[in-house]
This record gives sequence, structure tokens and C-alpha cells, in this order.
Amino acid sequence: MNHDLIVIGGGPGGYVAAIRAAQLGLNVGCVEKESALGGTCLRIGCIPSKALLESSHLYHMAQHELAAHGIKVEGAGLDLPAMLKRKDGIVDNLTKGIDFLFKKNKVTRYLGTGKLAGPGKVLVEGNSPAELTAKYVIIATGSKPFILPGIEFDGKNIGSSTEALSYDKVPEHLVVIGGGVIGLELGSVWKRLGAKVTVLEFLDRIMAGMDTELARDSQKIFEKQGIEFRLKTKVTSAKFDGKQCVVTVEGGEPILCDKVLVSVGRVPVTDGLGLETVGIELDKRRIPVDGHLRTTAPGVFAIGDCIAGPMLAHKAEEEGVAAAEFIVTGYGHVNYDAIPSVVYTEPEVASVGKTEDELKAAGIDYKKGSFPFSFHGRAKALGMTDGYVRVLADAVTDRILGVHILGPRAGDLIAEAAAAIDFGASSEDVARTCHAHPTLAEVFKEAALGVAGRSIHK
Ligand code: NAI
Repeated sequence: MNHDLIVIGGGPGGYVAAIRAAQLGLNVGCVEKESALGGTCLRIGCIPSKALLESSHLYHMAQHELAAHGIKVEGAGLDLPAMLKRKDGIVDNLTKGIDFLFKKNKVTRYLGTGKLAGPGKVLVEGNSPAELTAKYVIIATGSKPFILPGIEFDGKNIGSSTEALSYDKVPEHLVVIGGGVIGLELGSVWKRLGAKVTVLEFLDRIMAGMDTELARDSQKIFEKQGIEFRLKTKVTSAKFDGKQCVVTVEGGEPILCDKVLVSVGRVPVTDGLGLETVGIELDKRRIPVDGHLRTTAPGVFAIGDCIAGPMLAHKAEEEGVAAAEFIVTGYGHVNYDAIPSVVYTEPEVASVGKTEDELKAAGIDYKKGSFPFSFHGRAKALGMTDGYVRVLADAVTDRILGVHILGPRAGDLIAEAAAAIDFGASSEDVARTCHAHPTLAEVFKEAALGVAGRSIHK
């Protein structure tokens, strides 16, 4: 055997699984086809988009918000190449960091496309081909953008998030197809940098899956920021006619624009993986696994976007750790009720646990506490008072079942809620925990107090 474990895919699921398994004493190899480790999240997803969200937010602040703080800024201008260079530098630095972590943990890195070639065998195809053997394999091949039929990707004017992270000039009119996470985050970036942004969404709401009221209230804020939404709008085609992009929608006039971002979901990457050589059959395009992330093939595990569940980097990471620990110790666990999701708009939107719709559908009796950021001193000092924290707790046991936040730093605040849910905390547990004053985290405490109708500042 070359290795105890081979991980196919070096994204947040795969590289974390490889490091954890190495920490636990396994001899680990990781096969990744891109020269940079880190996967979609690090190279062309979470990290570069956050860099641009931060930079575009500062640009917007300089132009529109600093005056309210008594700060005069004259001649603030956009240097887009510098902004993009900063983003690329952050990505480069972090991907190299994973190379360092692999060396430190003695994980062997293979550059090429990995595929199964029967039980315990993995082929690496590419410039440095190799035939590897291992007792265990973890498949962590991630996902790729879903391309709607009728959409003609040209990698320049009509493309996915990958292109939208590197437009070389600010689009005049950006049409975003899909009012989900990617559309809202990257739509916000280009809106702040000066583009007209129109979001076309098939459903009657944005951010499907998030709490309905939270999504509705978020939309109102985004509209105030100037993003235009057209809901119940089904896009049937998009093409570049040589001069401009033409987007056709069912039952409406075609929309003309200079850039189109297609963000209508992602699909698992499972093609050409040799799954058939070990007898794995897909279920709705995903690799089926049991509660320990085991596929139907002995010794073969799968994690992250290529299996069921939300396509989130941190969910993949948890599964990577759980799979590695299960292989070595026989234990390994992911609490799927405590996986937060965050939309990094301004303000941010974050959620963990059940939504009200889910609780109603399951017939669970619940109590609710809510507290607005506008009542809080720190939020006022920050000048970020939009939104609220809402806590949903079991009506009988008081156990926290869901927390939904629209507001400043919601993505950071949700961590406490995830920990509370993971530890089985009641709303009273949070309400009786001392929170530093004045911090935004107090808004969570006040919302938890609100479950029993005893918020102090409301
Ligand atoms: P999404 O699934 O979040 O949203 C896609 C939207 O497109 C849906 O609302 C859908 O109704 C709409 N749609 C589908 N077909 C359409 C049509 N023909 N016309 C108009 N609208 C249509 O997908 P998105 O934004 O592409 O994100 C993909 C994945 O990446 C998600 O699973 C997400 O969780 C993940 N992601 C997570 C981030 C985060 O956690 N902050 C950031 C970026 C991506």
C-alpha cells in the first residue's frame, strides 16, 4: 500500500480530512487536479468573494457613509486592478498556506485528476501520472456551477461566479440569474462598485431555504441599496449577440445588459471518478453515504458537496474530520442541526437550526424572541442598525431550535447560536450568560430573554 488513506480532492472537505487523518497517525495522500490547493472555496469562491465584499464595502463607505461620522473624503476613486490584485494576493497566500500544512503534517500531495480503479486503487491522471493503493479512500470532489439549458457561457460576458470575481471593469448593467447566495453576494459587490444590478429569480422569494421573513426583510434592504429584483421570473436563455447580452425570460421582454452572472445552484462533481469500478451508484447526482459517511464500497467514504446536504465549506470540513476520525477511532459525528449558513451581504444574513416554516410543518410548538439592532448602543455606534436577531425555542423544554439573524456581523454572531444548539442549550441558558457590553452579541442575549417576554431594553 502506498498510503493508509487517499483523499481525492483538495478543497475544504478534502484537505481538512487529509490533515486530520495525518494528525491521527495515518499515512495520507491527497490528489488535486488544480495546482493550488483549497478548492472552489479558497480559489474561486468564499475567500475571493469576501475580499471583494470587504473592499467594495469600504469603497461604498468612503463615498456614502463616512460623512455621517464627520469624516470628509474628497476624491475617493476606484482602482479596480488594485482591488483585484489584493484579492488574488489573499488567495495566493492562503493556498500556499495549505501546501505548508500538508508538509507539516506529512501529507503527500499528487497533482492530477484522481479516479478510482477498483477496490483500494486510485489512478492519478495528468502530467505526473501515478497508480496508488490505499486501504481507505475519501472522495471530496466538490461541485461545479449548474448551467441552465439555453445559456451560452462564453467565459467573458456570460459566466459563473468565477468570471464575476474578476471582471476587468465595472459592468454598466449586470443581470444576475438566480436570487441565491452567490447572486446576492456578487450582485452586492458590483452594485457597490457602481453597476446597475438586476436579479432575476424564478421563485416568489430570494434566498430559498432561509427563514421567509428574514429573506423578505433582507430583500427590502437590498432594494434600498439599489439592487433591482424581478421575482417569479424564469430565465429561458442568455446569449451574447456580438454587442450585448440578451437575456430572455418567460412571458416578458428580453433584457439587454453587458454582463450576465449565472448563479442558479451547483451540481456535484462525480463524472469520470471511476465510481462504477467499486460499485457506487449515484442517487440524484450525489454519492450516497450512511451516517458515518461510508459509501456502499468498503473503505470508500465521501464528504462535502458531492454528497447530500447543503453545499457549504464548513459542512464539508466537519464531514472531513468526522470521516477521518471514524476511520481511525470508530467514532466521528456531524450534528447536521447545528450547521450555520451565512449570506455575506451588508448587512449579513445568518441562520442555524430550524426555520419557523420547518417547525410549523413538523408540528413542533415553539416560542419566539426577537430583538432589533436599532435598540442597541453598539449597533448605533457602528451606524449599522438594520435587522434583528430571532430565537426560536421549544415551547415545552425551552431548548433552542433555531436562530435567525439579519444584521451587522450576523455571520460571526451565529457562531454562538450554533454552539448553543450543539450543546442543547435553552433560551434561558443564553439569557443568563453574561455577554460583554457593549457588543453586538448582546442582541442575541436580548432576543433569548425575549423568548420569556423579558428583554430588558425593549
Ligand atoms: P442557490 O441554490 O443559492 O440559488 C439559486 C437560485 O436560482 C434559486 O433561488 C433558484 O430558484 C434560482 N433559479 C433556478 N433556475 C432559474 C431560472 N431559470 N431563472 C431564474 N432563477 C432561477 O445557488 P447559488 O447562489 O448558485 O449558490 C450555489 C451553492 O453555493 C449553494 O449551495 C450555496 O450554499 C453555495 N454558496 C454558499 C455561500 C455561502 O455560504 N455564503 C456563498 C456562495 C455559494
